[in-house]
Amino acid sequence: MCGIFGYAGAARDAREAVLEGLQRLEYRGYDSWGIAVVSNGSISVDKHIGLVGYDAGSLPRSHIGIGHTRWATHGKVTDVNAHPHYSSDRSFALAHNGIVENAPALKSSLQKDGFKFISETDTEVIVRLIERRMRKAKTLSEAVRLSFKDLEGRNTIIVLAKSGEIIAARNGSPLVLGLGTSSEIYLSSDVFSCAPHVKSILVLDNGEMVAVRERAITLSSIATGKKIKQVYEKNLLKDVVVSKGAYDHYMLKEIYEAPFVIRQVIKESDATYLALARAIKRARRVYTIGSGTAGAAAAQMAFYLRLYGHIDAKELIGAEAFEYKSLISKGDVLIAPSQSGETADVLEVLELVHARRATIASFVNMPGSMMTRLSDHKFMANAGPEICVMSTKIFVSQIAWGYLVAKAVEGKLAEGKRNLKKLATETEKLLADDKFIAKVRGHASRLAHKEHLYLLGKGQNLQIIREGMVKIIEGSYVHAHAIPAGDLKHYAITLMAPGVSVITAVSNDEVRASVLNAIHEVRARGASVFGIAPQTDENFDEFLAVPDTKETSAILNIIPLQLLAYYMAVELDHNVDKPRNIAKSVTVK
Ligand code: BG6
Repeated sequence: MCGIFGYAGAARDAREAVLEGLQRLEYRGYDSWGIAVVSNGSISVDKHIGLVGYDAGSLPRSHIGIGHTRWATHGKVTDVNAHPHYSSDRSFALAHNGIVENAPALKSSLQKDGFKFISETDTEVIVRLIERRMRKAKTLSEAVRLSFKDLEGRNTIIVLAKSGEIIAARNGSPLVLGLGTSSEIYLSSDVFSCAPHVKSILVLDNGEMVAVRERAITLSSIATGKKIKQVYEKNLLKDVVVSKGAYDHYMLKEIYEAPFVIRQVIKESDATYLALARAIKRARRVYTIGSGTAGAAAAQMAFYLRLYGHIDAKELIGAEAFEYKSLISKGDVLIAPSQSGETADVLEVLELVHARRATIASFVNMPGSMMTRLSDHKFMANAGPEICVMSTKIFVSQIAWGYLVAKAVEGKLAEGKRNLKKLATETEKLLADDKFIAKVRGHASRLAHKEHLYLLGKGQNLQIIREGMVKIIEGSYVHAHAIPAGDLKHYAITLMAPGVSVITAVSNDEVRASVLNAIHEVRARGASVFGIAPQTDENFDEFLAVPDTKETSAILNIIPLQLLAYYMAVELDHNVDKPRNIAKSVTVK
């Protein structure tokens, strides 16, 4: 996904300001990183593979700089492919977040014009495009604007000129400008990365670009070049403190914040829930949509809407919704849970159905996101920043919210809030139970060394075991496979044999008996079963007792699975908060 950052200001050393920004953007990608600063009319670049580190001596002091954290899309993880990329004459350097979908065609046209390439990236194509435009354009800003119009796909770029001007353009991947306390100017992929230093923010829309020259800010349309009025918003994250506290990892801290985020969901006003419930009840069709963990949350929301709201809600996965683009339109409701509010696959669908005047509801954790701006019903998780790339508290927040929306549709919002209140208390007690934690940790140290793990679930627990699978894969890189219990005998039972480990999450609900039947079947083939349930069963080889929270039982069941995934990652000594190859926010398709 990549993170881009820029700083111009007299108050701070640009190297330190950009470095701090990159460290707060690392969740967006951490294959490699780079910083470029201007000093005495020339640009210096320092870029490396690996996590953002920094040796101050390699760059001169400066008050203007840009930076980038990379999650490789085009080209291997190498120093050469890291951003920023220099122009041939080193008159500017550029960093990029996105995918230039027409890069091959542009590259061959540039090569025909004699341009040479030193990297494997699509980003360098943008650099050479600007160079070619510079032959005729009066200003760098104009060359950037015209070049940006040639790009296909969702892209955002930031350019540092040796004059000290910073230019940035957005189409798809997020871009915000922050006004600092002492006339400093920040540019970044998210508010969070510059939050401690800015008092107000300007969120650029797709098709907008900004030029910062001598602290003067010009916002303009990429299509026309015409100036656009700048509208600033208060920075809501200014006082947010980011710290692991007494925890070894952000992931564990965030799992322990589950009771807090559930209580945040309850705090939202009844009126806001009832307004969405009314929109859902009068809708022609209701869809939920998300990607990754938020995709599992979207599916759980749709389940609750069907079960409690009696709404024929359909869950969509962001990247697999193309055939719905022609089906969703005015009169339909689309509900999007999203931590970042910037996931490209989901945004692409939202932007399209928004144009068709469908009703959009979003549940987002990052203020100022594009999904919130596209929504008719704007809900914020207010869960505090989730730093670990693996989503835990936000998933709990999303499915608790989905449950409450469904209860509001059922006309039982107050009951739903009472049930969530009880859930928060039970979750708090469970997390405070050292014996329970020790038991989970014991199972984790055993399961971590398995090559394959299987998870079985059904009904309200189907998406829970799917998310449990995602957590185990993300944290331990063990191959985990979530199997709908009803599907077992149709294919997956061939995998069951002595030595195979199966994890199941069961609730005291109408499908409990059929899940236990499936467990009997896997035991009969020699597999061993680790059961998470309110009470044990003769076919559980290992049993983890959890309280029976009735309608919210599935929400509670994800907690032991998250803890299991966490302790497995710890057992394997993995980088728990930054697992290999993934990123927290996927703002490219
Ligand atoms: C993935 C993250 O990259 O993107 C998941 O690892 C997340 O945790 C998914 O659920 C969607 O991101 P978002 O910001 O829309 O929740």
